Amino acid sequence: MNDHHGVERHGLQRAVVTGASGFIGSHLIDALLAAGVTVIGVDRRDPGVDPEAAANLAAALGDPGFTFVAADLRTCPLVALFLHADAVFHFAGLPGVRGSWGERFAEYTACNVFATERVLAACEDVRVPRLVFASSSSVYGTTVGGAAGEQCTPRPESPYAVSKLAGEQLCLAHAGKASSTVTAVALRLFTVYGPRQRPDMLIGRALAAALGGPTLKLYGGGNQRRDFTYVGDVVQAAVAAATAEVDSTVLNIGAGESTSVLGVLAAVEELTGHAVPVDRLPTQAGDVDATLADRSLAGELLGWKPRTALLQGIARQLAHLTANPRQTAHA
Ligand code: NAD
Ligand code: UGA
Repeated sequence: MNDHHGVERHGLQRAVVTGASGFIGSHLIDALLAAGVTVIGVDRRDPGVDPEAAANLAAALGDPGFTFVAADLRTCPLVALFLHADAVFHFAGLPGVRGSWGERFAEYTACNVFATERVLAACEDVRVPRLVFASSSSVYGTTVGGAAGEQCTPRPESPYAVSKLAGEQLCLAHAGKASSTVTAVALRLFTVYGPRQRPDMLIGRALAAALGGPTLKLYGGGNQRRDFTYVGDVVQAAVAAATAEVDSTVLNIGAGESTSVLGVLAAVEELTGHAVPVDRLPTQAGDVDATLADRSLAGELLGWKPRTALLQGIARQLAHLTANPRQTAHA
């Protein structure tokens, strides 16, 4: 399996990736390094002490073009890190929808809003030309009446979604300042999956359950639908967003196909040859009924289109899990 996702550097020489130790950030770093880009990765999870971060960055840490900086974006000095960067990919954040209620919201606002403001201010200070921000399909709330286009009124249904909407609005506010030289492209990513997926997410958990790991907790009956999007396609969109000649904007990055949770379980059963054992739990607060991307604007502005069908992507994630059984057991 090729984890490099076949990106071209299109003039990018130096990039900073925040959220480097995470699922999507680490894939982005692998792809940038393979394309010959020099990368500084920043994350508060240090691969020297955090096994998941170490697994995610296993390839990158051996690459002479990569420097890892363990730092918390809420407090760390940023200007020296961003100096001479052609692009900053701001992918750090607290990502879970269902865990964002109550006391944890303080950390969500600090990591998703306050840290984003600090990143943007530093980009302005050292005149980084392009910031790419990982926003979220959750800003739409439930999609009704066909695919959601960027012009749809956001109706976030969770504190997490509110924090991501605030993050992308901060991007546009900074980019819109008369004195600012940074342009910002906020990508509304739709439920991303693939090798090294976060352990709280559906597809990894369903695969692990089918392979003898913990029973899947099935929330709300399984008829909820998602536009599941393969991580390699997301990486290609992110690199295109860093280099395209576009004004600051918000773009949907979704496969453009709607699949129910039960449909995912059927695919997992087909691929593994095993049933997925489930414990049924009530619908979780903040979990939307359906998401679906209208991806035409990303096609027009970035020349981007998804290449990976759901069954093919889940098969790659399965291959990764079976080659890394320790991650299967922990999922
Ligand atoms: P992840 O948790 O695997 O990666 C996020 C990383 O950000 C983590 O390694 C974490 O340590 C780091 N981080 C968080 N707060 C930080 C801080 N204050 N300072 C330094 N590092 C910090 O999550 P992911 O699934 O890779 O998501 C990456 C980004 O994409 C997130 O911003 C998330 O909101 C967004 N997103 C993800 C999805 C998805 O389906 N995975 C969909 C839409 C948007
Ligand atoms: C995902 C990411 O986790 C968020 O970080 C991201 O912002 C969001 O996509 C997005 O598109 O913006 P989610 O769609 O909830 O959020 O993705 P999963 O965690 O994979 O859940 C998909 C569905 O499976 C949900 O309806 C969820 O309730 C269900 N699920 C998930 C379960 O039934 N059991 C589980 O153990 C996990």
